[in-house]
Amino acid sequence: MARNMHLPGLLVLLVAGLAPGIRDSLGAQDPGPGPPELKEVFKLFQIQFNRSYSNPAEYAHRLDIFGHNLAKAQRLQEEDLGTAEFGVTPFSDLTEEEFGQLYGNWRAARKGLEMVREVSFERQKEWTPQSCDWRKAHVISPVKNQGQCRCCWAMAAAGNIEALWNINFKPSVEVSVQELLDCGRCGDGCIGGYVWDAFITALNYSGLASEKDYPFRGRANTHRCLAPNYTKVAWIYDYIMLPRNEQAIAEYVATQGPITVIINSERLQHYKKGVIKGTPSTCDPWYVDHYVLLVGFGRSKVEEKGTEKDLSSSNRPPRHSTPYWILKNSWGADWGEEGYFRLHRGSDTCGITKYPITACIQNPGKKPVSCPP
Ligand SMILES: *[C@@H]1O[C@H](CO)[C@@H](O)[C@H](O)[C@H]1NC(C)=O
Ligand SMILES: *[C@@H]1O[C@H](CO)[C@@H](O)[C@H](O)[C@H]1NC(C)=O
Ligand SMILES: *[C@@H]1O[C@H](CO)[C@@H](O)[C@H](O)[C@H]1NC(C)=O
Repeated sequence: MARNMHLPGLLVLLVAGLAPGIRDSLGAQDPGPGPPELKEVFKLFQIQFNRSYSNPAEYAHRLDIFGHNLAKAQRLQEEDLGTAEFGVTPFSDLTEEEFGQLYGNWRAARKGLEMVREVSFERQKEWTPQSCDWRKAHVISPVKNQGQCRCCWAMAAAGNIEALWNINFKPSVEVSVQELLDCGRCGDGCIGGYVWDAFITALNYSGLASEKDYPFRGRANTHRCLAPNYTKVAWIYDYIMLPRNEQAIAEYVATQGPITVIINSERLQHYKKGVIKGTPSTCDPWYVDHYVLLVGFGRSKVEEKGTEKDLSSSNRPPRHSTPYWILKNSWGADWGEEGYFRLHRGSDTCGITKYPITACIQNPGKKPVSCPP
């Protein structure tokens, strides 16, 4: 444990945040050494996320890691300049290294990726809506869980393709992530990858099969690409990189649909909810390692750090208002804000502007669709 951590105060907060049922099911047995309050919270964590350990030594090891992670979450909480809350998550019994090995993108995790050609798109007007949330248009598929396969790149690309397809053609397709893993040119997609490889696969096989026909198995089978076996349900004609400019990105998302971005994921292991706002020193914008789907943006009314309030509930003008991006992650729906998270908009938080990349899908007969506010 970090010596200067205020454990009891933090524990009260954590325990208070749990459902009464879980709180009541706290057992009285003492499974081993360690600070008693910490063991109680750890027990809640084990119940909430169905975690058991094979022997007392493993239990003690995980308890120790859990304690370190609570201290780290508290440090992140103090550092954060937005409204984010950090604490117990499904990943609280993993070290930073283990978390990186299980969920990091080994191929992409380095400073600076090779360039993709950047295009400027035709900016339609100097006006962007205040908010946009494509989830409300029912074009986004349910949150997935990449599990032990480091395929955030394929999950984000699939989410991008299906959202654009659904916006342009209406039917709600869900495309096969497994096809991207089995049929890519770079071998095992579960050790990480780049979104453009997913788009190249979709182009090469003239589209993607459905998730239903070719379901996610959690590991790549590169010797057995079944792309030709199934009917294609969505296809793309190109992919592009947008300008590294948050205003231009907002305009594109509002008028065209969700895009993929790659960010520095370091703070996400301990994230619970709210808007994360880092600085280049607390969240290095050049160390981007995790692909996610950018599905919209908005602005929260914040009275003070840590409390978000709806403006309508107060007559006073808000002291600060925090602009944010809404992002879909692929770590299951019990992480973050039901599988989603928010990053501060306007400060390149965690490198969000470094590689804004999207597939291109077009339906010439499409009626204009606008992003729900
Ligand atoms: C809890 O985990 C065990 C294995 O550790 C598994 O057999 C069981 O199905 C899990 N229960 C739930 C509700 O996920
Ligand atoms: C394109 O698809 C063919 C099979 O149709 C495959 O042999 C080839 O390796 C693929 N190329 C890439 C770049 O994925
Ligand atoms: C896929 O298609 C090939 C060639 O038609 C066939 O031999 C194979 O059995 C099919 N596999 C599955 C899983 O449908």
